[in-house]
This record gives sequence, C-alpha cells and structure tokens, in this order.
Amino acid sequence: MPILTDCLETHTPRILDMPAGIPFPSDPVSWALDMLETDVVSADMQCLEQGSENDSIQKISFFDQNDPECFNRFSSGIHQGLPVHGNLELIDYRDDGGTLRKNAEWAWQVFNDEFKIGMAEKHSMGYYLKSNLWMSCGEHCYKAHCDFADGFLMHIKGSKHVRVWPVPEQFKQKLIYDHSDFEARMATEPLDFELKPGQILFIPASAMHEVVAHGEQSAISVSFHMGSPYPLVVLCDQLNKLKPGVEVFLPPHLSRNLKFNLSFFQLSRFAHFGGGVDGKTVPPELSEALLSSLKSKKINSAEIKELLSAWWQLALSEPIYPGPWCLPE
Ligand SMILES: [Fe+2]
Repeated sequence: MPILTDCLETHTPRILDMPAGIPFPSDPVSWALDMLETDVVSADMQCLEQGSENDSIQKISFFDQNDPECFNRFSSGIHQGLPVHGNLELIDYRDDGGTLRKNAEWAWQVFNDEFKIGMAEKHSMGYYLKSNLWMSCGEHCYKAHCDFADGFLMHIKGSKHVRVWPVPEQFKQKLIYDHSDFEARMATEPLDFELKPGQILFIPASAMHEVVAHGEQSAISVSFHMGSPYPLVVLCDQLNKLKPGVEVFLPPHLSRNLKFNLSFFQLSRFAHFGGGVDGKTVPPELSEALLSSLKSKKINSAEIKELLSAWWQLALSEPIYPGPWCLPE
C-alpha cells in the first residue's frame, strides 16, 4: 500500500486507506461538538438557506460567532439534520513554531507519524501545516474552491461526496500563479469520490473541489493541508528588509493579497537546486520569473538579482518560510 506522503506534489487525486493505528476519537460526534463549543468564536459556522420560492439557489448564511446562541443553533441543526456546517482549526504549524488545540493532540500525532518525515524531504526549505475539523450534515454543500497546499481529508464519520477537478496542464506549468480563475481551473473532467469512514482523500494543491455532506447524519472529517506556497508580497517585503532603501515593489496585478488572487510560487519546486552551480545563486528558472515581476526605481535588475541571491542564501540557511498567511501590513 502506498504511504500517504507518496501523494505529495503528484497532482493526482486519489482515495487511500487509513493507515493502521491512527488514534481518532472514539466518539467523534461528541468530540467535534465539544471542540466547536469550546472556541465557537474561532470557528466558521454557516447554514444553507433556500432563496425565495421560485429561486432554487441556496444561499450561505454565516452564524454570528459572538451571539451566545450561535453554538446552540449549530448544534440543533446537526441534531435535526439541517444543512449546517462548522469548521475549526486544530493545528497551525511552521518550522519556527505554531499552535496545537487542546484535545487535538491525536491530530498532531497523525502529522508526526504519517507526514513529518516525507514533508521534511520534499519541502527541505520549510513548509506549513494546517489541520482543521469539519462537521456538517443535511446535504450541506461547501462550494467549489481550491487550496494553496496539498490536502488529505481523513473521513471519520458519516457520508461525504467530494468532486475534484484535476489541475489543468497549463496551470501545472506556471511558476508564478494565483487562484483567481475558477472557471479555467474547472475545465478538466471532474472525478467523484464517495467518502466512507476510514478513508482518506488526497486533494492536490490548486485543484478545484466541492464537498457535500450526505443525509441527515453528521459527516465529520479532519483535514491536513501542507506545503510551501510563497506569496510574492511576502518575498517583496523580505527583500526590502534585507536591504533597506532599495524600494522593491510589485505591479498592482501581482500585489493583491486576498485569498484567491494572491500571487505566489512553490518554494519546494526549487529546493532541490540548493546552492546552485556556484553555491550562491538563486535557481535560474525562479530568478527569471521573479525578475520579470519585481520592480524598483532605486536599483537595476542586476542588483535585484544580487538581492534575490542574498535572500536565497538566507532561505537555505535558516527557516524564513513564513506560510501563506503572514502577509505584510
Ligand atoms: Fe478545500
């Protein structure tokens, strides 16, 4: 049987069996409800509501996290099999530290036992990991979207249908990209997966996917997303800190910093290059792509290239990978 980390960076969605010995909670419904109740303000909770009588489109209604009745509304939705959905972060980890939620220690053990060695090999210049709890029911549909990093959806209870659109070839070739073009990303023939408890679905980074919780029974999964997407706005900020006064900037279309139009590159794709031919330079392919994006009125492109090599040396020597969300203010 293939090990989970064999899937990383393959771009191929697939179902895998849960490795033996994964220590999931014995009563997942109580565990999930307790977790959500404990920190309802940090959770994302929503329900789907029917539009007007002639309108078949369902609308998302987000619960007010600060309303003391918020959790009770969610919990009674779960017990009645209504289309509610809740999600809570369990682990947020980078090489320089992170957070682990109480009563989610078993999720850390899963990461430690199943992913940590493979990630260190494939993402030798640093990576981030996020694990989240997902609880929903009543045919709740989490609309099509894509994620920055490779994801493993470990299904624990209930029944879930996941539709995945494999990443089109033209997007796999890009060195710098964003996720704004949903329509073009859904041009491939989708694959449908019916997830049963005890199965894991590998969803490749950047692949569009949609998730439906079948039936009135609650469906519970825990996701593990991991990778090294590097936002250009973060790189630009790091270069300016490395050599104050150079005033490196990005053209407006590359400096947006919202989730689906954030421009980034995958650090792991270049990690094998290491110190390069002379032990110093940034990989030529990456250098070329970055030099066409980074601008400055204070220094010329040869100096930007030198600065990039200094940044690359730093990235090789210490964990400066910040994760996709540490955006400069
Ligand atoms: Fe997702």
